[in-house]
Parts: sequence; C-alpha cells; structure tokens
Amino acid sequence: MSFQRHVAAGPWEAAAACAAQTVELINRALTGQATAALAVSGGTTPALMFDALVTLPVEWGRVHIFWVDERNVSPGDPQSNYTLTDQHLLSRCRIPRANVHRIQAELGAQAAARKYAAELQEFFRPAPGALPQFDIVHLGLGPDAHTASLFPGEALIEDRSGLAAAVYVEKLQQWRITLLPGVLLAARHTLLLATGAEKAEPLYHVMHDGYDPLRYPAQAILHHARDVDCFLDTASSARLGGG
Ligand code: 6PG
Repeated sequence: MSFQRHVAAGPWEAAAACAAQTVELINRALTGQATAALAVSGGTTPALMFDALVTLPVEWGRVHIFWVDERNVSPGDPQSNYTLTDQHLLSRCRIPRANVHRIQAELGAQAAARKYAAELQEFFRPAPGALPQFDIVHLGLGPDAHTASLFPGEALIEDRSGLAAAVYVEKLQQWRITLLPGVLLAARHTLLLATGAEKAEPLYHVMHDGYDPLRYPAQAILHHARDVDCFLDTASSARLGGG
C-alpha cells in the first residue's frame, strides 16, 4: 500500500495534476492489458479534472469509463454525475459509446443498482470470490467526509462483498446508487481530488482522527486502499500536518 499527498496552489493546478496522473496510470495499464477501466466520481470538483483530462493524449478506444456513484435522476438532469462527465469529457473526447457504462438511475435506484452490479460482473468477470478490479478509481470528499455515496452512518460502509447498492441519503432526502467499499478497495489505484477551504475540516478528520469510518466514511477507503494519491490544494490541506 502506498499513500502520496500532492498539494497544489489552487483547484485548477490540483485538477491538472490529478488528470496527468490519470493518464499516466491509464498508459501504465495499457502496456499490459487491452483496456483500462476507470471509475469517476461526480459532484462539482471533477469538472476541472475532466477539463484537464480532455486536453491530454489518451487512447480512449481502449478506456472503459464507469461511475463511482450516481444520483437517482435521469441523464441530462443537472444533478446527474453522468451529465457532468458528458458535458466536460465524454462529449469532447473520442470514447466509443460502448465504453461508457452509465448507471441507469432512471430505472429507479434499486433496479439501477442491480443492473449496474450485473454489468460490473459481466465486464470484469472476476474469479470466484474476487471483486471487480478497476485500474483507477477517482474519489471526491464531501464536507461531512463522505465519499462515493457512502455518507456518515451508512451501514454499507462496513460491507466488503457487495458490488453496488441503492442507498437513501437522509440528509439529502435522495436515493443514490453507489459502488460499495469492497470494489473501491480492490482498485489498483485510488485518486482523491479534494480542493477548497470547505474540504480542510473533513480532510483533517479523515487523516488525523481515530479510525471511525461510520463517522468519516472516506477513512474506510483512504486508510486501506492499495495505492492512494491525494490531490489537494493549499486551501483544502490547510489543517494537515507536514509529511
Ligand atoms: C457525488 C460524488 C460525491 C462527491 C462529494 C464531493 O455524487 O456527489 O460522487 O462523493 O465526490 O460529494 O462533491 P464536490 O466535488 O461537489 O465537493
């Protein structure tokens, strides 16, 4: 397991560094396999990263893109993580539609989670007892230290066998579909992108408080994932110690 922290001056620089690392990891994966599998998060932070990524040389025909999570809305909805990715990346790069594995939230959260889990199983065809293994998983961090759609108090934070699930987020009054921790932890590389002053406090708790993933869900992944690169900026890293 390795854990690297990269602190840039501001959000654009951090996003650009995260995009460059993404390309580096895609190209590394493609030296030894036909395709690379990437799972991206949503929210707002990834927009800058996608904007940087689309300017870099990538063999998109050999990249399969999935989502870490999705809101229970239809594609095209401003809340949709797919829409964010489509606007900033998919509509601007030459990725074949067959390589885009959208979470079909319009089916309803439970059905979408079942369909997405089946698609993961079909695409990765993991060995018996193993989980789908992404080459790269991008994660964001919420102000409450959630990641993916694993929010504080969510019992599925302890799950290590499931692939994807529908979760009801009480504070948002919203259903979501999310990858589960076992799949997130199985990834070869985890890239966290967290910038801005509002991420300083959750980062402090995730990095410096005792291990309490039900309270700080991102700890479940960042403390145990195989190979973690955190892309921060001076504002989000303001409360972290050196090193
Ligand atoms: C989502 C994301 C979520 C996100 C954090 C940070 O669906 O919202 O997957 O986990 O990464 O909420 O969101 P911001 O980038 O908007 O701060």
